[in-house]
Amino acid sequence: MSSQIDHLFTESRRFAPSPEFAAQAVAGADLYERAKADREGFWGEQAQELLHWEKPFTQVLDWSTPPFAKWFADGELNVAYNCLDRHVEAGNGDRVALLWEGEPGDSRRVTYAELTDEVKRLANVLTDLGIEAGDRVAIYLPMIPEAIASMLAVARVGAIHSVVFGGFSADSLRSRIDDAGAKLVITADGGYRKGKVSALKPAVDQALADRGDGAQLTVEHVLVVRRGENDVEWTEGRDLWWHEAVSAAPADHVAQAFPAENPLYILYTSGTTGKPKGILHTSGGYLTQAAYTHRNVFDLHPETDVYWCTADIGWVTGHTYVTYGPLANGATQVLYEGTPEFPKPGRWWDIVEKYGVTILYTAPTAIRGFMKQGRVIPQQRDLSSLRVLGSVGEPINPEAWVWYRDVIGGGKTPIVDTWWQTETGAIMVSALPGVTETKPGSAQVPLPGISIDVVDEKAEHVGNGNGGLLVVTEPWPSMLRGIWGDPERYRETYWEKFESHGYYFAGDGARLDEDGDVWLLGRVDDVMNVSGHRLSTAEIESSLVAHEATAEAAVVGASDETTGQAVVAFVILKESYLTQHGPDGLANQLRAWVGEQIGPIARPRDVYIVGELPKTRSGKIMRRLLRDVAEGREVGDTQTLADTAVMSVISAQVR
Ligand code: WT7
Repeated sequence: MSSQIDHLFTESRRFAPSPEFAAQAVAGADLYERAKADREGFWGEQAQELLHWEKPFTQVLDWSTPPFAKWFADGELNVAYNCLDRHVEAGNGDRVALLWEGEPGDSRRVTYAELTDEVKRLANVLTDLGIEAGDRVAIYLPMIPEAIASMLAVARVGAIHSVVFGGFSADSLRSRIDDAGAKLVITADGGYRKGKVSALKPAVDQALADRGDGAQLTVEHVLVVRRGENDVEWTEGRDLWWHEAVSAAPADHVAQAFPAENPLYILYTSGTTGKPKGILHTSGGYLTQAAYTHRNVFDLHPETDVYWCTADIGWVTGHTYVTYGPLANGATQVLYEGTPEFPKPGRWWDIVEKYGVTILYTAPTAIRGFMKQGRVIPQQRDLSSLRVLGSVGEPINPEAWVWYRDVIGGGKTPIVDTWWQTETGAIMVSALPGVTETKPGSAQVPLPGISIDVVDEKAEHVGNGNGGLLVVTEPWPSMLRGIWGDPERYRETYWEKFESHGYYFAGDGARLDEDGDVWLLGRVDDVMNVSGHRLSTAEIESSLVAHEATAEAAVVGASDETTGQAVVAFVILKESYLTQHGPDGLANQLRAWVGEQIGPIARPRDVYIVGELPKTRSGKIMRRLLRDVAEGREVGDTQTLADTAVMSVISAQVR
């Protein structure tokens, strides 16, 4: 890690905005001044300019009981109305909202008028099924227009969605449904992935199956979209087909306004313990910052741009920059169901060419994957429509940044490296295209209206040229409002560390360069970042020890050329198991086991069977040393180990 970091700071390439770009840019340097002069007033202006309020707010921020913030609390709005009806009422009903492409090559264009109609019908279906404001609805769908319609219909009736990534297992789905107490699940028979139908409904059936443990199931209905046309089992009375229910429902639905702090969604993310946290977001502040960042960071001109964010709606990027930000802004966007490699490498560039994509937002892991395949593939397509490129999910190394700009952006597009988190709800740190001179590898500066700092353990500003911890020093509109069902964990996880200063602790290390620009250095806790997705070491360890063969397990994130980090597990087997089975093939079995238990993204790259784990005298596993082994480095200082010989034993077993 440290050699990589040193390398970062020798990066001296700079890219100033072109005068042509700056002349047409949505954002100007004045935004910084306005926000600095009156931060709360600035956010109040954004909320008024970007959204329709059924009842105007009189107070911007209520921070009287930190860390529980209220934004625009006495205002009322309907989130779905803001994303749909108001664009139709303004005469833009014929504008395309979604340019959808299925993996097999089928496609649909959905206008704002059509999407509004679909969401109104679905809202009526939800009401018929007994869904009321505050109820939870789980969404487990592929990337199809119905996924977006589902989120908006839930929001329209004031209920709370919990989208679960389609790649998660039945067990992961079950624990999320249980934690949220969902009354309804919206799913599909299956969706396309890598040329095949990947079934979803069977996982829902499995998640909802009675396990004879007396657990009370909260789910009353399952609404099923027909997409994969695969055979599915049917539970009469519980299951309904989307196409039957939605087409039979009336198309009239008047959106009722809800208070700005009405919960909008729960999204589960990995923390430092084995149990995922249900991050809670609410309506008015969230939608304000989603729309504001989407417009200014991507320089959105809704009449002419074709925007494409490649994230799945199962992650926060899909919530804020596929569903809420773009639709609140009346954008036209591409939605693609499948994988970048199907039917052959270059599919993404075919899509950019076919739809004339102008703004592309994706992750460094994808860019590094394309770099490996070589520049010939993108160069065979016409990518000249692209004018802004975005990156998110993990630090982007300068080489990948420059490749992205040169090969994909034709050497001319501004690149915005956007730092944020599930918890922050929207982008916090990023260059503004047309305004900021960009630096490959640095996320650079907080957005106008956002206050961050890099501090030491005592909350002291570290000063330029130094590293420390990234904190947010003032509340922001799209901040999480809590962890579902666990206010104490919310306070402890994010606020306790710098409680007397009232700083939000993000869990990321960062450094300020000579200009005061921010360079993100990765997580400082036991959270891994694999292909821009967050995974917890504790969650994977508890899955490993749930296998009958495992006595003990330790998991680390080891650096990986393509995925950023990769999951590497060290496992001690049970004597009793070994006497009966022997260790052959077990490493692979354990990899598959984790994949089934949590989901394929959590499957370890390597599983090493070892005799011991490095522990301190107090019994804490020293993951730092295991990371050295996993990354093939000289093992670091072992003096605090209870048994200093253990590392040479492990190193020998791994080789
Ligand atoms: C963690 C949040 C934000 C949506 C996708 C991930 C890392 C995110 C960057 C960036 C360096 C980044 C951080 C953060 N991260 N963006 N531009 N540069 N690191 O959301 O799953 O909540 O993960 O991703 O470590 O804490 P998430």
